[in-house]
Parts: sequence; C-alpha cells; structure tokens
Amino acid sequence: MSATLAAQAAYLVAALLFILALAGLSRHESARLGNAFGMLGMGVALLATLVLAVSDDISAAGLGLMVVALLIGAVIGLRRAARVEMTGMPELIALLHSFVGLAAVLVGWNGYLTVESHRSGAEAARLTALGTLGIHHAEVFIGVFIGAVTFTGSIVANLKLSARIDARPLMLPGKNALNLGALGVFVALTVWFVASPALWLLIAVTVVALALGWHLVASIGGGDMPVVVSMLNSYSGWAAAASGFLLDNDLLIVTGALVGSSGAYLSYIMCRAMNRSFLSVIAGGFGIEAPSGSDVDHGEHHEITAESVAELLESARSVIITPGYGMAVAQAQYPVAELTSKLRGRGVDVRFGIHPVAGRLPGHMNVLLAEVKVPYDIVLEMDEINDDFAETDVVLVIGANDTVNPAAAQDPTSPIAGMPVLTVWEAGQVIVFKRSMASGYAGVQNPLFFRDNTAMLFGDAKDRVEDIIGALDSGPRRVETGTPDRTPA
Ligand code: TAP
Repeated sequence: MSATLAAQAAYLVAALLFILALAGLSRHESARLGNAFGMLGMGVALLATLVLAVSDDISAAGLGLMVVALLIGAVIGLRRAARVEMTGMPELIALLHSFVGLAAVLVGWNGYLTVESHRSGAEAARLTALGTLGIHHAEVFIGVFIGAVTFTGSIVANLKLSARIDARPLMLPGKNALNLGALGVFVALTVWFVASPALWLLIAVTVVALALGWHLVASIGGGDMPVVVSMLNSYSGWAAAASGFLLDNDLLIVTGALVGSSGAYLSYIMCRAMNRSFLSVIAGGFGIEAPSGSDVDHGEHHEITAESVAELLESARSVIITPGYGMAVAQAQYPVAELTSKLRGRGVDVRFGIHPVAGRLPGHMNVLLAEVKVPYDIVLEMDEINDDFAETDVVLVIGANDTVNPAAAQDPTSPIAGMPVLTVWEAGQVIVFKRSMASGYAGVQNPLFFRDNTAMLFGDAKDRVEDIIGALDSGPRRVETGTPDRTPA
C-alpha cells in the first residue's frame, strides 16, 4: 500500500474516532472515553498529515517548518491546559476558536495568492482545465469571510468572558441594519469576485467580515454568552470545512462539518433552554432592543450568620441547593458535599437544582458535583425541580445569581427577561451565599436579595459552608445557649 493510500485510510480512522468522541462526550459517564477518542483521532490525523506531506515530496525546509509548528502548538496547548482553571475554560475555548478563524483566513489568502495572482501557474491551469476556477474563487471568498467573522467574534467573546471588556450588549444605532448590510455586501462581493477575482475585493471582504464578527458578538449581552460560545464553535467548524475544500483535505472537511453541525445543534438546545430565539442570537441579538435598565429601589436586604443557617438546616425537612459560578470560584463543592452528607445523615431531604447555564460552561456544576461524588440521583435539572420549591423549607443559593433572578420571570424590561430561572423564591426560606451585593454575569440587579424570605450570608462560599458545618458539629452546645433564631436579622 502506498504511503498516500495509508494516510487516506488513517484520515478515515481519525474521522471515525472524532465521531466516537462526540458520542462519548454526550454523557457524563462516557465523557472521559470520548475525550480519549478525540485525542487519539487528532494524533492519527497529525501523523497522517506528516506522512502525506513527505509522500508529496515536501522540501526539507517545509517539513522542518511543519514539525516546528507542531511542537510550538503542542507546548502552548499543554501549558495552557495544565494551568487553566475550570472557571477560565470558556474564555480559553473562545481564544482557540479565534485561532481556527485566523487559520481559515490565512488558508484562504494563501489559496488566492498561489492561484489567482499567478494566473499562468500550474494550479490555475489545472483548475481552469477542470472548469472549477470559479468554484475555487467562491471557496476562497467564503472561507475568508467565515474565518474572519469567527476570528474577531471569538476575540470579543474572550474579552467579554474574561471581563476585560463590558459584558453588556453594544447597542449601536441601526445595529440590525448594519449586520444585514454587511451580509448583503458579502453576497454582492462574492458574485463580483467569482466573475473577476481582484485583490481589492478580497481585502474588502476581509475588512467587512472582521468588523461584522466584532459587531455580532459585541451586540450580544452577557446572559447570552453561553450560546455565543457554542455558536462560535459552530462557525469555527464551518471555517475549518471551508479550508478543507481549499486544501483538498477530506479530513478537514469532515471534521469541520462535525464541529459546525454539533456546535449549531448545541446552540439551538441552549437557546431553547434559555427561551431565546436561535436566529436572533446567531444574528447578533437581531430584533433585541436596548433594555430599559431601570434602577428600581428594591429596599433593604437581610443578613444572616452561619450559626443561624445551621439552626435553620437542623430543623428543615427539605433543602434544595442551587449552585452557581461562585461555587466554582470558591471551590466550595468539597464542603458542600460534606454538608449534604451530614444533613442527609440526619434525615433531611437534600437535592440540587441545576440551571442549564449555571457557571461558565455547559455542565459546569454537574462536573464539580461529580468530582466530589454527590450522588447523581439527587442532582436534578431545572425543569425537574422547579415545581418543588414551593414545598421546600430551605434553599441554599451557593454563588448563583442570574440563574435565580426573579426579574427574568417577572420584569419584561429586564435584559434577561424570558430566560427560565430556578424559582427559588417560592421556598420557605432562601439563603444566598455571596461576597457582596454585586450583580451576576449579566450585570443585572437581583430582586431576590431583597425579599422577606431571603437572607444574605456574606463571605467566600467555601468559608461560609465550612462555618455552617462547624456550627452543625457543635450543635448540642447551641441548644444549651438558647432558642434558635429563625428570623434573619
Ligand atoms: P452569576 O450570575 O455569574 O453570579 C455568580 C455569583 O457568584 C456572583 O454574584 C458573585 O457575587 C458570586 N461569587 C463569586 N465568587 C464567589 C465566592 N468566592 N464566594 C461566594 N460567592 C461568589 O452565576 P450563575 O447564576 O451561575 O449564572 C451564570 C451566568 O453566566 C449566566 O448569566 C450565564 O448566561 C453566564 N454564562 C454561562 C455560561 C455557561 S455555558 N454556563 C457561559 C458563559 C456565561 P459576589 O461577587 O458578590 O461574590
């Protein structure tokens, strides 16, 4: 078997491994195996690409460059993956998407420069003879467009997720017209470029696409960022597929299509979970008008001590814990698991309510709870638990904010209006663990904090949960010192 044939067979194996990776990643139990399939597939693909390059008589310098690029990429990837905190994962993913976008732009430009600018060259002659020169022009143009949108869009997503720019939506006047106008310009320029592939047209589409990518993501509010990340994941897949057509690389086409379609499907599922219009989000918040941003005076909040929370928990029959991003920041999952098993040991019915976008990446809370071995059967999705809050004695909101904000359900002018939330306020008593009265990721004030049945337990969530465990452990002493105070101060 020739080296080329072997490499093509290896590409097929890699594509199958990528499909198995996606299948594995769709469930907790098989996610680790899915990851292993993905890594193996990528290893096979890289090796096969090197073999193909050698069998194509690549120059020694070219091969050397490929190996150096591979090593630099591997070192950067390993270092970043080893260092990244779980909470920093979405911004890292956004940054990686920007690399795919940039690569697609470079591949497109390279395709143009090697063929169109040397019209007498062998490649142009071959494409002309095949009658596919026009298709090649279109591939270049579309690849550069998708790649450039993905590149700047992912950079803005990275900056928003890492809080280096404001997470609030940018509301330029006529923003919908701007987005539609840019798409119209792209279609017109594509037709022109296929007919007459001038360099300035390629420069123009690159600039328009870079600006569009920036504007699309800048126009989307913080609360919708989970959808944006998976949408950019999808765009990066389509950008890779476009590069695959240009490079005549089947594996890149298959892999790009897998990433593109699975990312689009994930965006769709997330939009449904958050009651958002899929088309509106992918079109950069199309049709969403600027929120009124009303500065309502919600009144006073109540505070409570860890000791009083311990007393409440001791006399509770049912407790629901709704974790959020703050639990991840504080790494409070360890004492939370300990508190859970202590309370369950005392006969309290403890369950967890997980919002689909709690934390900063899909399944973030599930991963943290699985890490500390909280039994799966007491970890329920929002839809499974929302009806039970009214019959629950105590809810512990541990580092969650936007996902428990009643404004989403009750204030149509709120930027997160319509997003389904955990209806924690229906419970007998709500305890909110956070460090201050600051707003959550979407930058929206939370009226929950000011309700009569809510009490704030300020401080780092890990420290406060440990304080509660300490107070529970010294329970008998407290009974001697007086009657528990069930009303938050
Ligand atoms: P957020 O609304 O982000 O609120 C987290 C809260 O945790 C903050 O109010 C913060 O208040 C508190 N906190 C931070 N560190 C803490 C610590 N060490 N101890 C105690 N509290 C701490 O959380 P959420 O309810 O999980 O909502 C997630 C938000 O992120 C949504 O808007 C969602 O759309 C967005 N988002 C989600 C994803 C995915 S896929 N899940 C991706 C990107 C964005 P203090 O600062 O006062 O402590």
